[in-house]
Amino acid sequence: MSASSKPRRIDRGTVLRSFDAHARTYDKLVASNPGYHEHLRMSARRMGLPNRGAGLRLLDLGCGTGASTAALLDAAPEADITAVDASEEMLEQARRKSWPSTVRFVQGNAENLAMSGITGPYDGMLAAYLLRNLVHHDAALRQFLGLLRPGAPIALHEYSVRDSFRSRIVWTTVCWGVIIPVGRIRAGSADLYRYLWRSVRKFDGVGALTARMAAAGFEDLRVQTVPGWQQHIVHTFLGRRPIEPVIDTELEMAADPEAVTPPEGVEVTKPPADG
Ligand SMILES: C[S@@+](CC[C@H](N)C(=O)[O-])C[C@H]1O[C@@H](n2cnc3c(N)ncnc32)[C@H](O)[C@@H]1O
Repeated sequence: MSASSKPRRIDRGTVLRSFDAHARTYDKLVASNPGYHEHLRMSARRMGLPNRGAGLRLLDLGCGTGASTAALLDAAPEADITAVDASEEMLEQARRKSWPSTVRFVQGNAENLAMSGITGPYDGMLAAYLLRNLVHHDAALRQFLGLLRPGAPIALHEYSVRDSFRSRIVWTTVCWGVIIPVGRIRAGSADLYRYLWRSVRKFDGVGALTARMAAAGFEDLRVQTVPGWQQHIVHTFLGRRPIEPVIDTELEMAADPEAVTPPEGVEVTKPPADG
């Protein structure tokens, strides 16, 4: 086999070009994955967006051909939705579909959203099958947190198999038995789908991703899986930007034992030392 005919090995640094190349066949491929769209809708609903999204500004990061955008729209039909993707070809497929005027598509790199004018604040964010493909996971999560309003939810919809032997076996079996062969037939090349298999195996387990979200500053963390063969393979990782405490200077002073003399008979106790 000559060097030029060798199958390309995609990694996180080069995956974007592959999404461009696979954009036209992407929808057909995901349509043959039972539950794909319903699971995205579940993750969007799990964000708990109020009032059908009326008055809310939402972000769909890594929107691809619009499957996750449609899920967000289903959960919050009255919201303003900005859907971002770095691949112009994937966006072109998304834009061909019919959308209300409240949905707009923007080309941008999720690792530097400010460069594309995505500055927030947003009332909620969905990122489906995106984070695993980014180069700097922690920096990306910190950036996502900074784009949310205090109290606003994030849903990361992701494959995560590392913590479960059974999940890893099912994942490898489905990839090599179905996804890779079907990808080769439908798209003419299976490079993106071999990358999918590899990258999911390497990606964070449920524990590691939850810890990563906590380290980035998210709170109220919850993880839920989906039904079907994807059970314990696809998960919704939910979190929230903390609500910043309202600092009342008078109360602060009253709480500071150095600042006031306690009334007679009132003992000022120190909090117990850690450990
Ligand atoms: C697996 S697709 C998921 C698409 C869609 N969210 C869905 O659920 O069907 C991942 C998408 O992330 C996009 N993507 C990957 N890296 C990105 C980056 N750095 N910035 C923005 N989009 C990126 C790809 O172009 C691709 O469209």
